[in-house]
Amino acid sequence: MADKFGVVVIGAGAAGLMCAAEAGKRGRSVLVVDHGKKPGRKVLISGGGRCNFTNYDVAANNYVCRNPHFVKSALSQYTQWDFIAMVAKHEIAYEERDHGQLFCEDSAKDIVNMLLAECDQPTIEQRYRCDVHDIAKTEAGFSLKLNTASVECESLVIATGGLSMPKLGATPFGYQVAEQFGLNMVPTTAGLVPFTLHKEEKEAFAELSGIAIPAVVEAEDGTTFKENLLFTHRGLSGPVILQISSYWTPGQKVTVDLLPDLELADTLATMREKHPNQSLKNSLSRLLPKRLIEVLIERGDIQDKPLKQFNPKEIAAMAAYFHQWQIAPNGTEGYRTAEVTLGGVDTDELSSKTMEAKQVSGLYFVGEVMDVSGWLGGYNFQWAWSSGFVAGQHA
Ligand code: FDA
Repeated sequence: MADKFGVVVIGAGAAGLMCAAEAGKRGRSVLVVDHGKKPGRKVLISGGGRCNFTNYDVAANNYVCRNPHFVKSALSQYTQWDFIAMVAKHEIAYEERDHGQLFCEDSAKDIVNMLLAECDQPTIEQRYRCDVHDIAKTEAGFSLKLNTASVECESLVIATGGLSMPKLGATPFGYQVAEQFGLNMVPTTAGLVPFTLHKEEKEAFAELSGIAIPAVVEAEDGTTFKENLLFTHRGLSGPVILQISSYWTPGQKVTVDLLPDLELADTLATMREKHPNQSLKNSLSRLLPKRLIEVLIERGDIQDKPLKQFNPKEIAAMAAYFHQWQIAPNGTEGYRTAEVTLGGVDTDELSSKTMEAKQVSGLYFVGEVMDVSGWLGGYNFQWAWSSGFVAGQHA
């Protein structure tokens, strides 16, 4: 005889645990299954072990989704303030960092323990190292063949996340369930991910590995971010690159303002007045790391000579070079290091109010498995909390 549950949640990550806790609060009997040996593995490693769990400023434009309005309902039904209130209720110390990002002061474990405490209800059961072999629709809901047993449920919640970081248990399971039930998929690709460079550029910039500078980076669609850019031995990284990677498609260029806080033409003109005999390289080395200047001057075919020998046209061209440095990435580091997966279950297939599949009654998708990806800065967890919460009110 199959065990019967009101709700089965597949995936004990951020969204799945939130959903289970909420469904449990409504008195539903809930089974959470996960093929991993413990819950919330991505939460534990997130934010450098401190989990950037939300952001003070959350709006629909912080998300990449084919339907930009889809996220609005869930984000307003369960806001960042609701989650912050839960964190406060559990007496978890947190701190604000740049751009309104909120992190645990001690450890991301606090967030997982909080979710587990919320799930500590008599009607919620969790099973780990549990594989789902088969799902079938029944008249009353769904029947599932697990490696340990068969179960039946009225509502089925898919919370298995995206493809990033396979080492942490990421699988395409959620997409396969969507396809089984005939739901459309938006093609997936790695997001919030470092860029790799073509061989020649990679070799030229490899010696800059470790250099970080503030920069504004613009994608071809006009999206811009201002944060730190980091040169690595594989290519370009740092928060500004991770952010823009979600707006980049292969073959496109990105434009980098390497000196976003000044007008280089004006600065050089002033420097020329004060130190006319100072070389260009030495002048620019006051503004950016010397090694970077040397590589850029060489690659830009710029002659290093005293400032007084530059005419206004040359200065303007140089300013344009540093403010609009163009680079065409070779690709990205892919799912191995990506923080999120762009694309997923098409949100047109889901109710934005409940996360239920429009065509399959009782089937819900929450979190990253769907075509919703947030910016760096706590937005992805906020989506997990908000979508998990609303599904938990209905499943
Ligand atoms: P999540 O991936 O959390 O959970 C999915 C669960 O499903 C996992 O427990 C997995 O084991 C399980 N599962 C998968 N396949 C299964 C199968 N076939 N059978 C059974 N179970 C299965 N975001 C943010 O807002 N702030 C941050 O600080 C960070 N930091 C960060 C760092 C790193 C290194 C990464 C990779 C990602 C982040 N993120 C982040 C993104 C964030 O972690 C991510 O968006 C959420 O965890 C998504 O939550 P979900 O619950 O949807 O999936």
